[in-house]
Amino acid sequence: MSDERTGDSPGAGATWSGTEGARAFAAVEAATDWLLGYPFVFRALSRRIGAGAVLVDYGCGPGKVAGHAARRLGVRVIGVDTSPEMLELARAAESAVAEFHLVEDGRTEGLDDACADAVMCNHVLASLPDEPAVLSVFTEVRRLLRPGGPFVLLSTDPDCGGAEYASLRIGDPGTVHTPGQALTVWLRRTDGSWQEVRNHAWPVGRLPGLLERAGFRDVVQERPTVGEALETADPDLVRSRPWTAERERPPLVVTTALAA
Ligand SMILES: C[S@@+](CC[C@H](N)C(=O)[O-])C[C@H]1O[C@@H](n2cnc3c(N)ncnc32)[C@H](O)[C@@H]1O
Repeated sequence: MSDERTGDSPGAGATWSGTEGARAFAAVEAATDWLLGYPFVFRALSRRIGAGAVLVDYGCGPGKVAGHAARRLGVRVIGVDTSPEMLELARAAESAVAEFHLVEDGRTEGLDDACADAVMCNHVLASLPDEPAVLSVFTEVRRLLRPGGPFVLLSTDPDCGGAEYASLRIGDPGTVHTPGQALTVWLRRTDGSWQEVRNHAWPVGRLPGLLERAGFRDVVQERPTVGEALETADPDLVRSRPWTAERERPPLVVTTALAA
């Protein structure tokens, strides 16, 4: 894979800011996420909210996952993001999402305290360089949530380095990361080539303490497996590949916490 893993498109090696970054993320395939990540986020949400509830997708990017959540859970989804370019793509592409709002200086424009029954936040931590940045996001999410509302976070375990997953590779084998440490990740695009991205490592064991500091309780973490995906993910996707690396060491962690 290393020959292909060149990161040769506009936005290569970058985060997802600007128009090129937004377009680059929209071209990512995310097969591993659709196997072991997003369906389990939806499952965690469905255990705590019902049809008609308000769900904020914090860091919604181009809005694809937000749209799936709206259709699958029957909820009213509000997508929010710091990137005007991502929001522009999302508005143009996704009709199942009710509203989109910009996050500026850590605050979501136009959304009141406790307006959300639930919040999901998928692959946003990897953009955050240090604990104050993570705490700022968690504090804003806490503001948006009604007391008792669930916050479901999807993140990649930075310590799963070296394995070649269907749609991602994380850093180098055997590396143990400190919180916020720079980490190179490669994501497979829909055309089969690889996009190199500069991320920040958030060891999953660090998240419960940070969530509690920001006003959350009852933190639970799960690491979905391919066996569980047989019940939870799209059956055609499950059958589509052998998922060798995903079976050996599942790389995604779903963290759920309740607003205190
Ligand atoms: C890797 S993309 C993930 C998009 C989407 N959640 C998904 O899973 O497809 C990360 C997104 O988080 C947004 N983001 C980064 N920092 C943020 C912050 N502090 N608050 C809100 N959104 C942020 C980026 O602009 C980008 O759209």
